[in-house]
Amino acid sequence: MKINKSLSILAICGFILLLNSSPTFAAKWRENYFPNTELTTHNNTKVNFYSDLLRDKVVLINFIFTRCQNVCPMETARLVALQRKLGDRVGKDIFFYSISIDPEYDTPERLNEYAKQYQIGPGWLFLTGKKDEIDELRTKLGLSIDDLVISDDGQLDHNLSLIIGNEATGRWMKRSPYEDTAVLAAMIGDWLHNWQSPSSQQLASYDQAPKLDEESHGKYLYRTRCATCHSYSDSDEMLGPNLSGVTERRKEAWLRRWLKEPDIMLEEDPVAIAMLKQYNGVRMPNFQLSDTDIDSLMLFMKEQDSQ
Ligand code: HEC
Repeated sequence: MKINKSLSILAICGFILLLNSSPTFAAKWRENYFPNTELTTHNNTKVNFYSDLLRDKVVLINFIFTRCQNVCPMETARLVALQRKLGDRVGKDIFFYSISIDPEYDTPERLNEYAKQYQIGPGWLFLTGKKDEIDELRTKLGLSIDDLVISDDGQLDHNLSLIIGNEATGRWMKRSPYEDTAVLAAMIGDWLHNWQSPSSQQLASYDQAPKLDEESHGKYLYRTRCATCHSYSDSDEMLGPNLSGVTERRKEAWLRRWLKEPDIMLEEDPVAIAMLKQYNGVRMPNFQLSDTDIDSLMLFMKEQDSQ
Protein backbone atom coordinates (compact mmCIF):
# COMPACT_ATOMS: atom_id res chain seq x y z
CA MET A 1 0.00 0.00 0.00
CA LYS A 2 1.30 3.42 -0.94
CA ILE A 3 1.72 5.62 2.10
CA ASN A 4 2.02 9.27 1.27
CA LYS A 5 1.58 12.68 2.74
CA SER A 6 -2.18 12.77 2.38
CA LEU A 7 -2.40 9.48 4.21
CA SER A 8 -0.62 10.88 7.25
CA ILE A 9 -2.82 13.98 7.25
CA LEU A 10 -5.88 11.75 7.04
CA ALA A 11 -4.49 9.59 9.83
CA ILE A 12 -4.52 12.63 12.09
CA CYS A 13 -8.14 13.37 11.11
CA GLY A 14 -8.91 9.74 11.88
CA PHE A 15 -7.56 10.15 15.40
CA ILE A 16 -9.66 13.26 15.94
CA LEU A 17 -12.75 11.41 14.79
CA LEU A 18 -11.94 8.53 17.11
CA LEU A 19 -11.68 10.87 20.08
CA ASN A 20 -14.98 12.52 19.18
CA SER A 21 -17.15 9.47 18.93
CA SER A 22 -19.13 8.96 22.10
CA PRO A 23 -21.76 6.28 22.78
CA THR A 24 -24.60 8.85 22.77
CA PHE A 25 -23.55 10.05 19.33
CA ALA A 26 -23.50 6.45 18.13
CA ALA A 27 -26.92 5.62 19.58
CA LYS A 28 -28.56 8.44 17.64
CA TRP A 29 -27.56 6.86 14.37
CA ARG A 30 -28.68 3.32 14.90
CA GLU A 31 -32.05 1.68 14.25
CA ASN A 32 -34.01 4.75 15.31
CA TYR A 33 -32.37 6.63 12.51
CA PHE A 34 -32.01 4.27 9.58
CA PRO A 35 -35.16 3.01 7.85
CA ASN A 36 -35.54 -0.74 7.53
CA THR A 37 -36.56 -0.35 3.87
CA GLU A 38 -37.22 -3.50 1.88
CA LEU A 39 -34.86 -3.79 -1.08
CA THR A 40 -34.21 -6.49 -3.68
CA THR A 41 -30.65 -7.58 -4.48
CA HIS A 42 -29.20 -8.28 -7.93
CA ASN A 43 -29.57 -11.97 -7.01
CA ASN A 44 -33.31 -11.37 -6.58
CA THR A 45 -33.34 -11.80 -2.80
CA LYS A 46 -35.42 -9.55 -0.55
CA VAL A 47 -33.48 -7.81 2.23
CA ASN A 48 -34.19 -5.14 4.81
CA PHE A 49 -31.88 -2.17 4.78
CA TYR A 50 -31.18 -1.80 8.49
CA SER A 51 -31.50 -5.31 9.88
CA ASP A 52 -29.88 -7.25 7.02
CA LEU A 53 -27.46 -4.83 5.46
CA LEU A 54 -26.37 -2.39 8.11
CA ARG A 55 -26.60 -3.60 11.67
CA ASP A 56 -23.16 -4.12 13.29
CA LYS A 57 -21.37 -3.88 9.95
CA VAL A 58 -18.70 -1.77 8.33
CA VAL A 59 -20.18 -0.67 5.02
CA LEU A 60 -19.68 1.41 1.92
CA ILE A 61 -22.84 2.73 0.26
CA ASN A 62 -23.29 4.59 -3.01
CA PHE A 63 -26.10 5.32 -5.45
CA ILE A 64 -25.87 4.43 -9.12
CA PHE A 65 -28.06 3.68 -12.13
CA THR A 66 -27.19 1.34 -14.94
CA ARG A 67 -28.26 3.69 -17.77
CA CYS A 68 -25.71 6.25 -16.57
CA GLN A 69 -22.97 6.53 -19.16
CA ASN A 70 -20.16 8.61 -17.74
CA VAL A 71 -20.15 9.13 -14.04
CA CYS A 72 -21.33 5.74 -12.78
CA PRO A 73 -18.98 3.57 -14.88
CA MET A 74 -16.07 5.54 -13.47
CA GLU A 75 -17.42 5.31 -9.95
CA THR A 76 -18.11 1.59 -10.26
CA ALA A 77 -14.65 1.00 -11.77
CA ARG A 78 -13.06 2.79 -8.82
CA LEU A 79 -14.97 0.61 -6.40
CA VAL A 80 -13.93 -2.51 -8.33
CA ALA A 81 -10.30 -1.42 -7.77
CA LEU A 82 -11.06 -0.78 -4.09
CA GLN A 83 -12.70 -4.16 -3.73
CA ARG A 84 -9.66 -5.86 -5.26
CA LYS A 85 -7.40 -3.97 -2.89
CA LEU A 86 -9.42 -5.04 0.15
CA GLY A 87 -9.42 -8.64 -1.12
CA ASP A 88 -11.46 -11.25 0.71
CA ARG A 89 -12.29 -8.88 3.55
CA VAL A 90 -15.18 -7.65 1.38
CA GLY A 91 -18.04 -9.94 2.32
CA LYS A 92 -16.42 -10.81 5.69
CA ASP A 93 -15.97 -7.62 7.65
CA ILE A 94 -16.65 -4.98 4.99
CA PHE A 95 -19.77 -4.78 2.79
CA PHE A 96 -20.41 -2.73 -0.36
CA TYR A 97 -23.91 -1.64 -1.39
CA SER A 98 -24.77 0.17 -4.63
CA ILE A 99 -28.40 1.27 -4.60
CA SER A 100 -30.19 2.22 -7.82
CA ILE A 101 -31.69 5.70 -8.07
CA ASP A 102 -33.56 4.58 -11.17
CA PRO A 103 -35.29 1.58 -9.57
CA GLU A 104 -38.15 1.27 -12.03
CA TYR A 105 -35.71 0.68 -14.87
CA ASP A 106 -33.08 -1.14 -12.79
CA THR A 107 -34.78 -4.47 -12.20
CA PRO A 108 -32.82 -7.18 -10.33
CA GLU A 109 -32.06 -8.74 -13.76
CA ARG A 110 -30.56 -5.49 -15.09
CA LEU A 111 -28.53 -5.05 -11.91
CA ASN A 112 -27.30 -8.62 -12.21
CA GLU A 113 -26.18 -7.91 -15.76
CA TYR A 114 -24.35 -4.79 -14.55
CA ALA A 115 -22.64 -6.67 -11.71
CA LYS A 116 -21.44 -9.28 -14.22
CA GLN A 117 -20.24 -6.62 -16.62
CA TYR A 118 -17.95 -5.16 -13.96
CA GLN A 119 -16.97 -8.59 -12.65
CA ILE A 120 -17.78 -7.61 -9.11
CA GLY A 121 -16.73 -9.98 -6.35
CA PRO A 122 -18.69 -11.36 -3.36
CA GLY A 123 -19.70 -9.02 -0.55
CA TRP A 124 -21.02 -6.34 -2.91
CA LEU A 125 -24.75 -6.07 -3.53
CA PHE A 126 -26.59 -4.02 -6.14
CA LEU A 127 -30.03 -3.09 -4.86
CA THR A 128 -33.34 -1.86 -6.13
CA GLY A 129 -36.66 -1.05 -4.47
CA LYS A 130 -39.45 1.51 -4.39
CA LYS A 131 -38.49 4.91 -5.73
CA ASP A 132 -39.87 7.01 -2.85
CA GLU A 133 -38.28 4.75 -0.24
CA ILE A 134 -34.91 4.91 -1.98
CA ASP A 135 -35.20 8.72 -2.09
CA GLU A 136 -35.78 8.67 1.64
CA LEU A 137 -32.69 6.49 2.14
CA ARG A 138 -30.58 8.93 0.14
CA THR A 139 -31.76 11.81 2.28
CA LYS A 140 -31.06 9.90 5.47
CA LEU A 141 -27.57 9.05 4.24
CA GLY A 142 -26.90 12.66 3.29
CA LEU A 143 -26.47 11.76 -0.38
CA SER A 144 -29.50 13.40 -1.87
CA ILE A 145 -29.67 16.08 -4.54
CA ASP A 146 -32.68 18.12 -5.59
CA ASP A 147 -34.55 17.74 -8.85
CA LEU A 148 -32.84 14.62 -10.04
CA VAL A 149 -33.70 14.06 -13.68
CA ILE A 150 -32.41 11.15 -15.69
CA SER A 151 -32.45 11.69 -19.42
CA ASP A 152 -32.75 8.75 -21.81
CA ASP A 153 -29.11 8.96 -22.80
CA GLY A 154 -28.09 8.63 -19.17
CA GLN A 155 -26.34 11.98 -19.12
CA LEU A 156 -26.84 12.89 -15.52
CA ASP A 157 -24.16 14.25 -13.30
CA HIS A 158 -25.43 12.74 -10.15
CA ASN A 159 -24.01 13.21 -6.71
CA LEU A 160 -20.54 11.80 -6.77
CA SER A 161 -20.06 10.73 -3.26
CA LEU A 162 -20.31 7.66 -1.21
CA ILE A 163 -20.64 7.07 2.47
CA ILE A 164 -18.57 4.71 4.53
CA GLY A 165 -19.29 3.84 8.10
CA ASN A 166 -19.21 1.53 11.04
CA GLU A 167 -22.82 1.12 12.12
CA ALA A 168 -21.97 -0.15 15.60
CA THR A 169 -19.68 2.73 16.54
CA GLY A 170 -21.74 5.35 14.67
CA ARG A 171 -18.76 6.67 12.78
CA TRP A 172 -19.75 7.75 9.27
CA MET A 173 -17.81 9.63 6.61
CA LYS A 174 -18.79 10.99 3.23
CA ARG A 175 -16.03 10.37 0.69
CA SER A 176 -15.48 10.84 -3.00
CA PRO A 177 -15.05 7.75 -5.16
CA TYR A 178 -12.25 9.63 -6.96
CA GLU A 179 -10.13 9.51 -3.85
CA ASP A 180 -6.95 7.47 -4.06
CA THR A 181 -8.01 3.84 -3.61
CA ALA A 182 -5.16 3.26 -1.13
CA VAL A 183 -6.51 6.04 1.09
CA LEU A 184 -10.09 4.76 0.87
CA ALA A 185 -8.89 1.22 1.58
CA ALA A 186 -7.03 2.43 4.68
CA MET A 187 -10.08 4.33 5.90
CA ILE A 188 -12.53 1.54 5.51
CA GLY A 189 -10.13 -1.30 6.26
CA ASP A 190 -8.28 0.10 9.25
CA TRP A 191 -9.75 3.22 10.79
CA LEU A 192 -13.38 2.17 10.72
CA HIS A 193 -12.31 -1.07 12.38
CA ASN A 194 -10.52 0.91 15.09
CA TRP A 195 -7.24 -0.51 13.81
CA GLN A 196 -8.24 -3.93 15.09
CA SER A 197 -7.23 -5.74 11.97
CA PRO A 198 -3.59 -5.65 11.01
CA SER A 199 -2.77 -3.34 8.16
CA SER A 200 -1.46 -5.08 5.06
CA GLN A 201 1.83 -3.22 5.28
CA GLN A 202 3.35 -1.17 8.03
CA LEU A 203 6.24 1.18 7.73
CA ALA A 204 8.82 1.15 10.51
CA SER A 205 9.26 4.88 10.05
CA TYR A 206 8.09 7.68 7.78
CA ASP A 207 11.58 7.77 6.24
CA GLN A 208 10.58 4.62 4.40
CA ALA A 209 7.51 6.20 2.82
CA PRO A 210 7.85 6.55 -0.95
CA LYS A 211 8.79 10.03 -2.10
CA LEU A 212 6.29 11.91 -4.24
CA ASP A 213 7.64 12.37 -7.81
CA GLU A 214 7.39 15.51 -9.81
CA GLU A 215 4.71 14.48 -12.26
CA SER A 216 3.71 15.79 -15.66
CA HIS A 217 0.12 16.88 -16.37
CA GLY A 218 -0.31 13.82 -18.59
CA LYS A 219 0.88 11.45 -15.90
CA TYR A 220 -1.36 13.17 -13.37
CA LEU A 221 -4.40 12.76 -15.66
CA TYR A 222 -3.51 9.14 -16.33
CA ARG A 223 -3.13 8.37 -12.63
CA THR A 224 -6.34 10.11 -11.55
CA ARG A 225 -8.66 9.38 -14.50
CA CYS A 226 -7.36 6.38 -16.43
CA ALA A 227 -5.41 4.01 -14.17
CA THR A 228 -8.61 2.71 -12.59
CA CYS A 229 -9.38 0.84 -15.79
CA HIS A 230 -6.09 0.65 -17.67
CA SER A 231 -2.55 -0.49 -17.06
CA TYR A 232 0.63 -1.06 -19.01
CA SER A 233 1.01 -4.64 -17.92
CA ASP A 234 -0.74 -7.86 -18.88
CA SER A 235 -0.50 -9.16 -15.35
CA ASP A 236 -3.06 -6.67 -14.01
CA GLU A 237 -6.66 -7.67 -14.51
CA MET A 238 -8.36 -4.45 -15.55
CA LEU A 239 -11.73 -3.38 -16.95
CA GLY A 240 -10.16 -1.75 -20.04
CA PRO A 241 -7.39 -2.75 -22.49
CA ASN A 242 -3.69 -2.83 -21.69
CA LEU A 243 -2.45 0.43 -23.19
CA SER A 244 1.06 -0.67 -24.11
CA GLY A 245 1.69 -0.12 -27.79
CA VAL A 246 -1.59 1.76 -28.24
CA THR A 247 0.11 4.74 -29.93
CA GLU A 248 1.50 2.26 -32.48
CA ARG A 249 -1.63 0.19 -33.03
CA ARG A 250 -3.96 3.19 -33.45
CA LYS A 251 -3.60 6.30 -35.59
CA GLU A 252 -3.03 9.59 -33.78
CA ALA A 253 -6.28 11.13 -35.10
CA TRP A 254 -8.25 8.07 -33.96
CA LEU A 255 -6.76 8.28 -30.47
CA ARG A 256 -7.40 12.00 -30.17
CA ARG A 257 -11.00 11.60 -31.21
CA TRP A 258 -11.39 8.65 -28.85
CA LEU A 259 -10.22 10.73 -25.89
CA LYS A 260 -12.51 13.58 -26.90
CA GLU A 261 -15.74 11.69 -27.58
CA PRO A 262 -15.62 7.97 -26.74
CA ASP A 263 -19.40 8.00 -26.25
CA ILE A 264 -20.00 9.01 -29.87
CA MET A 265 -17.39 6.61 -31.23
CA LEU A 266 -18.97 3.78 -29.27
CA GLU A 267 -22.08 4.37 -31.35
CA GLU A 268 -20.49 4.71 -34.78
CA ASP A 269 -16.84 3.63 -35.03
CA PRO A 270 -16.44 -0.08 -35.93
CA VAL A 271 -13.15 -0.47 -33.99
CA ALA A 272 -14.68 1.07 -30.88
CA ILE A 273 -17.84 -1.05 -31.20
CA ALA A 274 -15.73 -4.23 -31.50
CA MET A 275 -13.75 -3.26 -28.39
CA LEU A 276 -16.95 -2.59 -26.45
CA LYS A 277 -18.00 -6.17 -27.11
CA GLN A 278 -14.62 -7.53 -26.14
CA TYR A 279 -14.64 -5.56 -22.88
CA ASN A 280 -17.97 -6.86 -21.66
CA GLY A 281 -19.97 -3.80 -22.62
CA VAL A 282 -18.04 -1.57 -20.18
CA ARG A 283 -18.11 1.88 -21.78
CA MET A 284 -15.14 4.17 -21.45
CA PRO A 285 -16.50 7.42 -19.95
CA ASN A 286 -16.32 10.79 -21.71
CA PHE A 287 -14.17 12.87 -19.37
CA GLN A 288 -14.88 16.18 -21.17
CA LEU A 289 -11.12 16.52 -21.64
CA SER A 290 -9.82 19.81 -23.05
CA ASP A 291 -7.47 19.87 -26.05
CA THR A 292 -4.59 20.62 -23.67
CA ASP A 293 -5.52 17.58 -21.57
CA ILE A 294 -5.57 15.46 -24.73
CA ASP A 295 -2.15 16.79 -25.80
CA SER A 296 -0.75 15.90 -22.37
CA LEU A 297 -2.26 12.40 -22.44
CA MET A 298 -1.00 11.77 -25.98
CA LEU A 299 2.49 12.77 -24.87
CA PHE A 300 2.25 10.53 -21.82
CA MET A 301 1.11 7.53 -23.90
CA LYS A 302 3.85 8.10 -26.49
CA GLU A 303 6.48 8.30 -23.74
CA GLN A 304 5.23 5.03 -22.30
CA ASP A 305 5.52 3.36 -25.69
CA SER A 306 9.00 4.65 -26.37
CA GLN A 307 10.42 3.27 -23.12
C1 HEC B 1 -14.31 3.03 -16.53
C2 HEC B 1 -13.13 2.44 -17.12
C3 HEC B 1 -12.25 3.29 -18.02
C4 HEC B 1 -11.62 4.47 -17.72
C5 HEC B 1 -11.68 5.21 -16.41
C6 HEC B 1 -10.83 4.82 -18.88
N1 HEC B 1 -10.99 3.88 -19.85
FE1 HEC B 1 -10.04 3.83 -21.66
N2 HEC B 1 -11.11 2.20 -22.17
C7 HEC B 1 -11.99 1.52 -21.36
C8 HEC B 1 -12.61 0.45 -22.09
C9 HEC B 1 -13.62 -0.54 -21.52
C10 HEC B 1 -12.07 0.49 -23.39
C11 HEC B 1 -12.45 -0.40 -24.58
C12 HEC B 1 -13.59 0.27 -25.35
C13 HEC B 1 -14.89 0.32 -24.56
O1 HEC B 1 -15.44 -0.74 -24.25
O2 HEC B 1 -15.34 1.46 -24.24
C14 HEC B 1 -11.11 1.59 -23.40
C15 HEC B 1 -10.30 1.92 -24.48
C16 HEC B 1 -9.27 2.84 -24.45
C17 HEC B 1 -8.30 3.07 -25.50
C18 HEC B 1 -8.18 2.31 -26.80
C19 HEC B 1 -7.33 1.08 -26.54
C20 HEC B 1 -7.01 0.31 -27.78
O3 HEC B 1 -6.45 -0.78 -27.64
O4 HEC B 1 -7.34 0.78 -28.87
C21 HEC B 1 -7.48 4.08 -25.08
C22 HEC B 1 -6.32 4.69 -25.81
C23 HEC B 1 -7.95 4.49 -23.78
N3 HEC B 1 -9.03 3.72 -23.43
C24 HEC B 1 -7.38 5.50 -23.05
C25 HEC B 1 -7.89 5.96 -21.84
C26 HEC B 1 -7.41 7.14 -21.17
C27 HEC B 1 -6.25 8.01 -21.64
C28 HEC B 1 -8.16 7.28 -20.04
C29 HEC B 1 -8.10 8.40 -19.03
C30 HEC B 1 -8.32 9.73 -19.52
C31 HEC B 1 -9.11 6.18 -19.99
N4 HEC B 1 -8.93 5.42 -21.11
C32 HEC B 1 -10.02 5.95 -18.96
C33 HEC B 1 -12.30 1.81 -20.04
C34 HEC B 1 -11.86 2.94 -19.36
